[in-house]
Amino acid sequence: MNKTVLYVAVAVIITALICSATVWYVMRPAPADVLEIYHWWTSGGEKDAIDALVDVFADDYPDTGVIQSPVAGGAGYVMKAVMKSLVLAGEAPDAFQMHAGYEGQPYFEGKYLEPISDLWQEEGWKPVIPDVVEDMVKFDGEYYAVPVNIHRVNVVWYNKHVLDDNGVDPATLTTWDAFFDACDTLVTAGIAHPIALGDIGKWTDTHVLEQIIAGEGIDFYEDWVNGQVTSATDPKLVSALNTFATYLGYVNVDHVTLTWDEAIARVITGDAAFSVMGDWANGEFYKAGKVYDTDYGTIPTPGTGVMYGLCIDCFQHPKGVKHPENSLRWLKVVGSKEGQDAFNPIKGSISARTDSDTTKYGPYQAAAIADFTAATYMYPSVAHGSGAPEAFTAELDDIMSAFVTDKDVSAAASALTAATNAASDDYIKVWDLD
Ligand code: BGC
Repeated sequence: MNKTVLYVAVAVIITALICSATVWYVMRPAPADVLEIYHWWTSGGEKDAIDALVDVFADDYPDTGVIQSPVAGGAGYVMKAVMKSLVLAGEAPDAFQMHAGYEGQPYFEGKYLEPISDLWQEEGWKPVIPDVVEDMVKFDGEYYAVPVNIHRVNVVWYNKHVLDDNGVDPATLTTWDAFFDACDTLVTAGIAHPIALGDIGKWTDTHVLEQIIAGEGIDFYEDWVNGQVTSATDPKLVSALNTFATYLGYVNVDHVTLTWDEAIARVITGDAAFSVMGDWANGEFYKAGKVYDTDYGTIPTPGTGVMYGLCIDCFQHPKGVKHPENSLRWLKVVGSKEGQDAFNPIKGSISARTDSDTTKYGPYQAAAIADFTAATYMYPSVAHGSGAPEAFTAELDDIMSAFVTDKDVSAAASALTAATNAASDDYIKVWDLD
């Protein structure tokens, strides 16, 4: 081998080594000190809210990288299944979004969660978190999760300009009859589909039915969540389904192609007048720069004026996570006043703490805080995992989605009561709502 060939060979080897070292350096595993969380907050308002909460964590723990693993799909209709398989495979992230109440039951029963009663004690959460909320993150007397918000589910969002222009006074819409009369007025005025619905993922159908059921009275709702509505000819069940069928006569025909936030966007633009949705919708109005009581407004869904339907997101401390200390640090931030007051003003919800700084919250939330404090009744959402066992809720969205297409009241009543009867052993909680 002559010298030139040798030099070239050495140069090639050195270059290859430098390249491999560079590739290794760029591709090397992330530093060990990370926190990985899963959530489904991917709409405009939702994303801003979780980023604000992560910022609080980053300020408190600047050396820890946060990996957010968002799984799109409102109400967690995609993420819940993803999470089940990860947890069962022993691959739980350090914490994940979960609804309070029944949704945690399978994880608790499977012994996939660590109790965090000591953390509740150390952080002094009990005195500042309302009993109704605190109760929903406990199993067998121990705490297993930390609430990050309180969402109200029984809300009609309306475009104020559309109602004003057509002489509809939202304060008068306290019954479904009055609400449908207002829809007729708007249809006559040329708004062919005054109610916006986006039911990709099906859960928004269930969400609407749930509020109609609440409007049948708290006793009926209590029976429903306690698994006591077992007859397909129950007059209130049949009445609720008939109301829902009438409601569907006013919704946009392309509802199966829209997500919940795309439906809210139609109210924001004035293409529709109303949409029934939880108050995460408020985050979308904020994001669009709309002003409460000028551009948009809210009323409780008809018949639920004195009620506050609850949807509560929380995080937990799964067993065997990769970064247990960071998991607990995250929970501390989630439950802290600072964390709650960074997240909720953007999200649209109210704080799960009674000592939050209310000056940080907008006018919708100021009204929601007052309504929460004054509510005669509170009820746990079934559409959002809290109120009824999974064996029932797993069927619910499919039943409601079929109903939206066929509007067959007796078929839906039979399917709903059959699902309740089949899940009868799983109704282990007795809700006392009145
Ligand atoms: C969650 C909210 C979320 C909404 C839409 C609900 O189930 O509790 O936090 O914004 O779904 O994704």
